[in-house]
Amino acid sequence: MPLHRAIYVSDAVGDAATSLLVLAEILGASDRNNRRDGLTGVLMRHGGRFMQAIEGRRIDVDRLMDRLRADPRHENIRLLSDQDAPVRLFREWPMTLVQLTPDAARLLNGASLDQLSPDRAEALLITAAKALPVPA
Ligand SMILES: Cc1cc2nc3c(=O)[nH]c(=O)nc-3n(C[C@H](O)[C@H](O)[C@H](O)COP(=O)(O)O)c2cc1C
Repeated sequence: MPLHRAIYVSDAVGDAATSLLVLAEILGASDRNNRRDGLTGVLMRHGGRFMQAIEGRRIDVDRLMDRLRADPRHENIRLLSDQDAPVRLFREWPMTLVQLTPDAARLLNGASLDQLSPDRAEALLITAAKALPVPA
């Protein structure tokens, strides 16, 4: 089955926009579930929005998207990109938090996360992930 990758932007609801505890809970569940499902990706929280890339088998990506649509910690999910892909971009991480680093912010160029083209959204998350240490 081909590899699939979805990138979306959503609006954080309530304290999900700022709370560290909410982030920790999301990343904890993501690590557990995504290892089980063979999913990898990155999550960014910036300016009251989430942006996330999820890659794996299409059926597993779609199942996660269904859970995400039902999660009250965010709303208004907009898919920026949803397509088969030749390789994993984030193979080291079942799910990890990335920051809008200065390099990544340059790609955003003053726009908001939900205005990014598919290519730019991908480039921004790749750039942000370059600041991460690669796990051993
Ligand atoms: C912004 C955001 C990103 C999330 N990312 C993931 C994810 O990558 N994997 C995952 O399993 N759940 C993720 N979740 C949580 C799911 O919406 C859902 O709560 C969880 O998968 C339920 O898992 P559980 O039944 O093991 O508690 C995310 C939630 C939010 C708000």
